[in-house]
Amino acid sequence: DKGGWSSFMAKEITEQPDAVGNTIRGRVVDGAVEIPELTELGDDRLREIDRIIIIACGTASYAGMIGAYAIEQWARIPVEVQLSHEFRYRDPILTDGTLLISVSQSGETMDTLMAVKYAIERGVTTVSVCNTQSATIPRESDAAVYTHAGPEVAVASTKAFVAQITALYLIGLHLGRVRGTLAADAQASAVAALDALPAQVAEAVDTHEQIAQLAHWMADTRSVLFLGRHVGYPTALEGALKLKEIAYIHAEGFAAGELKHGPIALIDHGQPVFVLVPSPRTAPVMHSKVVSNIQEIRARGARVIAIVEKGDTSVLPYADDVIRIPLTDTLFEPLLQVIPLQWFALELSTAKGLDVDQPRNLAKSVTVE
Ligand code: BG6
Repeated sequence: DKGGWSSFMAKEITEQPDAVGNTIRGRVVDGAVEIPELTELGDDRLREIDRIIIIACGTASYAGMIGAYAIEQWARIPVEVQLSHEFRYRDPILTDGTLLISVSQSGETMDTLMAVKYAIERGVTTVSVCNTQSATIPRESDAAVYTHAGPEVAVASTKAFVAQITALYLIGLHLGRVRGTLAADAQASAVAALDALPAQVAEAVDTHEQIAQLAHWMADTRSVLFLGRHVGYPTALEGALKLKEIAYIHAEGFAAGELKHGPIALIDHGQPVFVLVPSPRTAPVMHSKVVSNIQEIRARGARVIAIVEKGDTSVLPYADDVIRIPLTDTLFEPLLQVIPLQWFALELSTAKGLDVDQPRNLAKSVTVE
């Protein structure tokens, strides 16, 4: 049941406030994050972790990349993110202090399952972030931290993605608390950001009309670039993946700082570029660097679509379109910024007359290696 929407993807985009809210629910107790499934692993075991490897494929891997920033910041544990299908083949260094976190909506992705089994065989502690109750990967893992996004039908992941980021943030806050690396003020501001999140996600969902108009004139676009810095970088990768998956448009995401090291050569007259602009309040240095990037690409003819926080007028002279999202902390920006990018892919796919929910050549869950 599409609930009156033209596609499951549209319905699922609008369900994101609940996906996030339900994933948080019951896991914040007296202003602190506590995930019972992690508590069961034993605090001593959590304190011994000296390295985290996140494994996932596709959209889930971008959630992993975003989660890595937060876990490192709050729990002060080095985190690396590896694609599941690359993991085994590099003879990975796994020690007693390694924690492997898999991220999978379906919990059945064969590449990810095989990576998890490889780690289990070597005695590594495994945690599964999964959206599907009792799927194979969470059953095989030492602990399962479920996302509660509800069933996701559209092949292109939307609500599961924001729920995955949310779950990884909760894991980071839990680990930071247990390990004593999370300062009281950092915990308070993260918990406040989590509290505000469902309503803010709903506001970001309301960008639909603006994005639909934007997509309308871009129906013939053959290439779109996405730029972001810090957590905006994996968000840019996700924006590009969505467009490839359902609109069959060539798209690439870049780290904004990398622009001058190559990608700026792609900028030609009329090239559309989405730029994820960090908050000038919480990340003033990154903000000013991204604004410089916008000036550089604009001077070379790019059509700039800037996603900024409300009240940030710094890009107005250089952006062709400005999409505004609510004010939050830097780490939480991806959960809001990605939503207009999801709408954009959906609207371009629709404008091209494509099947939004069932893109060619793709399956919701890939159960072969
Ligand atoms: C792909 C899907 O094949 O698998 C993507 O098309 C998804 O949408 C990826 O992100 C990973 O799937 P899962 O179930 O492991 O999160």
